[in-house]
Amino acid sequence: MTNPSLLILAGDGIGPEVMEQVKRVITWYGDKRDLKFDVSEDLVGGAAYDKHGVPLHDDTMARAQEVDAVLLGAVGGPAYDDLDFSVKPERGLLRLRKEMDLFANLRPAQCFDALADFSSLKQELVAGLDIMIVRELTSGVYFGEPRGIHMEDNLRVGVNTQRYTEAEIERGARAAFELAMKRDKKLCSMEKANVMESGILWRDVVTEVSADYPEVELSHMYADNGAMQLVRAPKQFDVIYTDNLFGDILSDCAAMLTGSLGMLPSASLGLPMANGRPKAMYEPVHGSAPDITGQGKANPIACILSFAMALRYSFDEGAEADRLEAAIEKVLADGARTGDLMGPEGGTPISTVEMGDVILAALDASL
Ligand code: IPM
Ligand code: MG
Repeated sequence: MTNPSLLILAGDGIGPEVMEQVKRVITWYGDKRDLKFDVSEDLVGGAAYDKHGVPLHDDTMARAQEVDAVLLGAVGGPAYDDLDFSVKPERGLLRLRKEMDLFANLRPAQCFDALADFSSLKQELVAGLDIMIVRELTSGVYFGEPRGIHMEDNLRVGVNTQRYTEAEIERGARAAFELAMKRDKKLCSMEKANVMESGILWRDVVTEVSADYPEVELSHMYADNGAMQLVRAPKQFDVIYTDNLFGDILSDCAAMLTGSLGMLPSASLGLPMANGRPKAMYEPVHGSAPDITGQGKANPIACILSFAMALRYSFDEGAEADRLEAAIEKVLADGARTGDLMGPEGGTPISTVEMGDVILAALDASL
């Protein structure tokens, strides 16, 4: 039997630095757990633009379609700010999502006990927090047509279109209900049905799908209220299902509840492939962090936790994912802190590589 294949697209900024630590973890699983992967690497974002003049080469796109999972670091940076819109680093990421049809974006916001003091919210509001945001990722205003900037009566007009088919809403909803069934069986759907027809359809379709999941308690919320509730009383939520744009905003908000954006992983899942595994890409929620790039300061945990999600959702290795998450929980409880995790008590930050070292040591200790 051949090993499962991984394509690593480390990208820009701190992407390559944090991905180095993920590669060490992948090697550890091959050596110590006999879980071997065939790993290949390629370019995305500004790094791909520098070499090919496009943020994602067609060959890379083709390779991404073939592998069992893509691991992505981060894209973008100030050097690329003035590029034409069509070749901006972000277009590479959006092309991967669209062409791989990764419609279900899972963004867990979990508060590690050791970090509960770091949140800008009161400790008791976030201690034990465990939310899963399911963001629709391949449609809505990110991709809707018509779009563009044109002239009307001598004025420039910018247009984007929020568009959802019922099939698009439904498949994401099913992914969200399935997750809710494995968790606390609560699902809150967020839209703006008070202002947008697409929101009315969203609410109708999610309600229809709920008939197939009678055990899941479904609620609906306007997305603006949802944002408010996320900072007022985040623990009221279990799974949240929302559209591409609201999901982008609400997930940043939920991420920060946990103290640092440097902690949060994500999985983007599509339809099953011939081997039964879903099309999948895993990436940290944080960006390329140009302000700390190349300084060895970046926190690799979000990227490593993204690999844990790959173990769970692509490779059916839930116990190994638990092992990796427990190792991270352990090093945090022992006080390992990168610069972004300097909480109220301060201390001396460790480097990206040192964080990798202690996580590997904790993995060794778990055997
Ligand atoms: C995210 C990011 C992306 C998005 C950008 C980089 C295109 O903010 O994954 O949340 O808007 O989806
Ligand atoms: Mg975002």
